[in-house]
Amino acid sequence: MKITSKIEEVRAVRWVDAALSWGFAPTMGYLHEGHLALVRLAKTENDRAAVSIYVNPAQFGPQEDLASYPRSLERDLALLREAGVDLVFTPDDGVMYPAGFQTKVWVEGVSRPLEGSARPGHFDGVATVVAKLFNIVQPTRAYFGQKDAQQTVVLRRMALDLNFPVEMVICPTAREPDGLAMSSRNSYLTPDQRAAATVLYRALSAAQAAFAAGERRGDALRAVMRDTVAAEPLARLDYVSAANPLTLAEWDRVEGDCLLSLAVFLDRVRLIDNILIKDAS
Ligand code: PAF
Repeated sequence: MKITSKIEEVRAVRWVDAALSWGFAPTMGYLHEGHLALVRLAKTENDRAAVSIYVNPAQFGPQEDLASYPRSLERDLALLREAGVDLVFTPDDGVMYPAGFQTKVWVEGVSRPLEGSARPGHFDGVATVVAKLFNIVQPTRAYFGQKDAQQTVVLRRMALDLNFPVEMVICPTAREPDGLAMSSRNSYLTPDQRAAATVLYRALSAAQAAFAAGERRGDALRAVMRDTVAAEPLARLDYVSAANPLTLAEWDRVEGDCLLSLAVFLDRVRLIDNILIKDAS
């Protein structure tokens, strides 16, 4: 497994044989089973697999957790080696944003609601770094988790609009046995908060059950999630949404697929989760 922080070394490894397909999973490290599922699929579906580990400052707001974001490079590298990854790119800020850097990728529209409104500038940071990573690694396929549903919508739009020749592959959310979506930020939770954090999945599951029972009013689905979160004393709701998964416009009445999503604070830890309901009709 080649580990490098240098762009030219990534390109050299990637283009040793232009006939080989490369799967790529961009990450911010502190890897969990969700990341490893992406990596394993990248490995299965391609001749070679690459992973980047980079905590991207451009996607964190000034009051957010950039400084405390969990890091575990040695452990991550051991896990990636075990998973059979061929190339790991571990750039620093000087490599990604050298002096004089001025460019931003801004995906209008789908970057605005939900996470985009709660975290201004977040998706500009994500789109910019992923565009750079795509240009550096030049993968055949790129792997992202459904856990960050809006991120997948923004990045698909970006790849399409900017003609990146990359196939976007979205993998299901990896969950703990009690339903909590795996996230590096779960490591911030105290034991009490960890127990309360199941409220996200409980709220989504309750709305999903209401949908299965025939409920199609967007307001009613959002109210089910809101009420479930309100019943958890340690949780504070940021937003709930029942939206069109392509446009992220809130459904008045669901007509097609429905992305149920929410963001919840447990004290200062902010968690997100979602369930995508496919239209069965
Ligand atoms: O999902 C993440 O971990 C990050 O947003 C990503 C895609 C690696 C960009 O920094």
